[in-house]
Amino acid sequence: MQVIRTIAELRSRLSDERAIAFVPTMGNLHEGHLNLVRLAREHGECVVASIFVNPLQFGPSEDFDRYPRTLEADCAKLQGLADVLFAPPVNEMYPAQQAVFVEPPPVASELCGASRPGHFRGMATVVLKLLNIVQPQAALFGKKDYQQLHIIRRMVSELNLPVRIIGGETVRAADGLALSSRNQYLNEAERSEAAFLYRALQEMRQAILQGERNFEQLQQRVVETLVARGWRVDYLAVRNQSDLQPASHAQRELVLLAAARLGNTRLLDNIEVCLAG
Ligand code: PAJ
Repeated sequence: MQVIRTIAELRSRLSDERAIAFVPTMGNLHEGHLNLVRLAREHGECVVASIFVNPLQFGPSEDFDRYPRTLEADCAKLQGLADVLFAPPVNEMYPAQQAVFVEPPPVASELCGASRPGHFRGMATVVLKLLNIVQPQAALFGKKDYQQLHIIRRMVSELNLPVRIIGGETVRAADGLALSSRNQYLNEAERSEAAFLYRALQEMRQAILQGERNFEQLQQRVVETLVARGWRVDYLAVRNQSDLQPASHAQRELVLLAAARLGNTRLLDNIEVCLAG
C-alpha cells in the first residue's frame, strides 16, 4: 500500500485509474472501517482510503485535539486491503482559512446537528473536497453514522456528483456496542453499560413490530430507562429512512436513532425497522 500525503502526488498516482472505490475516515481504524475497505474491493479496481481528522467538523469544545491519531497502526491494518492511503496534513487540505462551505439540508440542524452546530457543514465540506481530490466511482460510508450518510447522499444527488454512494452495515462488538473510535474514552464500568443503548433500540424495534404506534410514549419510556441507568440522552427519535423526518404513519421503512452520553463520552447508534405490508 502506498501512503501519500499531498494532493498533487495523489492526483498523479490516480490519473490512470478508472475505477476507484474510496473510503474516507478519520483514522484510529477498527473493524467498522476495515469492513468498508473490504467492501470497497467489490466496487472498484483501485481501493483508496483516507485518514484525515477534519478540524472543520469539530466544535470548539469538542475532542479535535485529543481525537486518537494512530497512523502507524492504521497503516498496518490497511496493508493488503487498500492500494493507496491518502493521509494529508491539515495545511494540505486547508492551506488558507476555508471560506467556501457546503450548506447541508435543514435536517443537518436536527438530531446530532442540534447538539453539534456546524458539524455537518464541516463534514459535508471535507467530503466534497475529498471526492473532488480522489474522483472515485464509488464511495463507502457506514450506516453507523446514519444522519451523516443521509446528508452525503443528499449532497451527491442535489449537487450531481458523479459518484455512487454505498452504505455499509454497522459493525458491533460481541455485546452489541457499535464500534467507534470514541469507545476507548469509556472507563470499565461505562464500557459494560454502553451496550445497553443497542439493547434499548432493539426493544423499541420489537415494540413497534408488535404494533406499538404511539412513538412519543415509547420514546419517553426508553429515555426514562436510560436516564435511570445514568445516561444523558441527547435524542432518541423514530424517523423515516427516506428523508429522516419524524415517522409518518404511512411510511413502512423507519429508523430508530439515538445519541446518548455516559460520563463524557457521546455514543451514537441506530437500528432500521421495516414494517410488513
Ligand atoms: P470516521 O468516524 O473515522 O468514520 C469513517 C467511516 O467509517 C464512516 O463512514 C463511518 O460511518 C464508518 N464507521 C464508523 N464506525 C463504524 C461501524 N461500527 N460500523 C460501520 N461503519 C462504521 O465519519 C467520519 O469518520 C468522518 O465524518 C468522515 C466521513 C471521514 C469525514 O471527515
